[in-house]
Amino acid sequence: MQPIRSRRLKSIAIASGKGGVGKTNIAVNLSVALARMGRSVMLFDADLGLANADILLGLRPSKTLHDLVAGRADGLEDILVPGPEGILLVPSSSGIGSMANLSPAEHTGLIRAFSSYDKPLDVLIVDTAAGVQDSVTSFCRAVQDVSVVVCDEPASLTDAYALIKVLHQNYGLRRFRVICNMVRDADSGRRLLQKLSSVCSRYLPDVLLDASGIIPMDEHVRRAVQRRAPVVGLFPGSPAGRAFAGLARQAERWTAADTDTGGIGFFVERMLQSA
Ligand SMILES: Nc1ncnc2c1ncn2[C@@H]1O[C@H](COP(=O)(O)OP(=O)(O)OP(=O)(O)O)[C@@H](O)[C@H]1O
Ligand SMILES: [Mg+2]
Repeated sequence: MQPIRSRRLKSIAIASGKGGVGKTNIAVNLSVALARMGRSVMLFDADLGLANADILLGLRPSKTLHDLVAGRADGLEDILVPGPEGILLVPSSSGIGSMANLSPAEHTGLIRAFSSYDKPLDVLIVDTAAGVQDSVTSFCRAVQDVSVVVCDEPASLTDAYALIKVLHQNYGLRRFRVICNMVRDADSGRRLLQKLSSVCSRYLPDVLLDASGIIPMDEHVRRAVQRRAPVVGLFPGSPAGRAFAGLARQAERWTAADTDTGGIGFFVERMLQSA
């Protein structure tokens, strides 16, 4: 295996503004689909309030990020849980509240725990909470690619716009990937993207939106959730299963940073700096 220094790490946050639009399902299925393509993937459950990636993956973590922060875990590897196709979950819990509330010692401990992780890693997927609060923006500012999930509801579009506006106006982010979820067909997905693009180009002319994937509304997603397994594993030939695989192929083409500037330790450092 190659040492981590010679590999490049891609980091992607899945965010939305509005709750319940499918972020966790996208984060989980994108992770598993990338792992099926041979990538080593870490999924960071950054929903510090309602962590549930573990439930969707049928995993039962014995320790979480909270234990790592509180010094009750023996390094990052002590909390990592292996999931389908070998993905590694960083499980979260509701005990943390916000990264902004960490003490300096907790800060340092967290950076040290992530920096000393030396296994090869290709992709880091970060599943964020709903809303535009600091605990969400700090994760978005720490990654290379922010994917904003929208579905065809007025509140989803307004909240996606609000998230993009905060990240652009307060923190200078310019480029966002957009994933249209739970759409009837590809045309509805394109129309949805068009709606978001026209508001952004009018009020935030410097923002660039990249169409990054259209995931159909598909009953198989709900069935997979009930069975606590990713749809790409249970129903790979379903419309959503195929769309997630397509999203993973697209994500493969997104550029990765050199690990010297984009490794997992640096991700956590940037995240804490922006908290
Ligand atoms: N493409 C889809 N087709 C059908 N149902 C879907 C699809 N995507 C998500 N869902 C359903 O939508 C619901 C919300 O999904 P999910 O938990 O992934 O959203 P979320 O954005 O992570 O929510 P939260 O903001 O609470 O974290 C789930 O019940 C899931 O089964
Ligand atoms: Mg979620």
